[in-house]
Amino acid sequence: MTDLRARLARVRADARDRLAAAGDVAAVESLRNALLGRSGELTLMLRELPGVDPEQRPQVGQLANAIRGEIELAMKARLGELEAHALDARLASEAIDMSAPGRPVRVGHLHPTLSVERDLREIFHAFGFEIFEGPEIETEAMNFEALNIPPDHPSRDLWDTLYVAEPGSDPPRPATDGTILRTHTSPVQIRAMRELTPPIRVITPGRCFRYEAVDASHNFEFFQVEGLVVDRDTSLADLKGMLEEFARALYGEATRTRFRPGYYPFTEPSVAFDVSCLVCGGPGCPACGRSGWMTILGAGMVHPSVLRAGGIDPDAYQGYAFGMGLDRITLLRHGIPDLRLLMGADLRFLSQFAGGR
Ligand code: PHE
Repeated sequence: MTDLRARLARVRADARDRLAAAGDVAAVESLRNALLGRSGELTLMLRELPGVDPEQRPQVGQLANAIRGEIELAMKARLGELEAHALDARLASEAIDMSAPGRPVRVGHLHPTLSVERDLREIFHAFGFEIFEGPEIETEAMNFEALNIPPDHPSRDLWDTLYVAEPGSDPPRPATDGTILRTHTSPVQIRAMRELTPPIRVITPGRCFRYEAVDASHNFEFFQVEGLVVDRDTSLADLKGMLEEFARALYGEATRTRFRPGYYPFTEPSVAFDVSCLVCGGPGCPACGRSGWMTILGAGMVHPSVLRAGGIDPDAYQGYAFGMGLDRITLLRHGIPDLRLLMGADLRFLSQFAGGR
């Protein structure tokens, strides 16, 4: 009997250490089984009670039950402790290091030629011009005939054209419907005149194509911005004043400008418009062929037959038009020596223009 008491006392004492040693929920559960399960140590001892001296039995029974209660409580406490540890560990493993440097997000930016185009859009917007866009694939009739360039006209030599091939032709020959890639944005003048009613004030930015041998200053693909104004009493003086303002808006107040006679079949008279050299500012340098001037666009009064092709009565309306190449403006703005860089997809080059201008 005293032997049972002693054994109970030992189970009680050992249980504390064994519980402290149980490192996880599974270990606590197997300890529960070993002590309190169907053939657990304490369970077996309780089964010995009927053999205990009847006088002692209530006391020993109380002791045994108290121990059982104690162990159950202690196990509950231990389980709570283990759960709290597990949570701490999980939180630690999932913690976000707020001091770690972030992963850089790659933000795109405009191509340098397109940011020139944006600037031109803004300048002309301030002058009251709207955007009017036309297709890159045109007809010969729109690209040439409507612009006063008949099929046998020598000025067609100015624009060596990329023709769309007649389907199925081998070797390829130009499509009989005269489909070409536009050689300039001027055909959009005709589209604008046919679609809008005067007063017309539009710019037509876009991509053009010519059959060129590609080198540092020629490409088969390039960008232009065309301008067209049609109104009553529009004169060459209006064109001159507008272009002078434009040059100062693009290149600064100190820019000097000049008109030179030029030739285009679709304008009469035609002019070339020069600005003081953007590199040397006037004295002359290699960039301006030592002349001090750079030609930035062609312009003139819209030819009466072009107005007529656009469905506008030349006796009632006059117009002026101008056209400029964006690629050259871009090269000059950034001091880029080779046009081909603009059309290559080399990010080492392009990413230098992330700041816009
Ligand atoms: N289309 C001409 C060119 O490509 C430019 C131009 C446009 C000239 C409008 C006069 C008027 O060179």
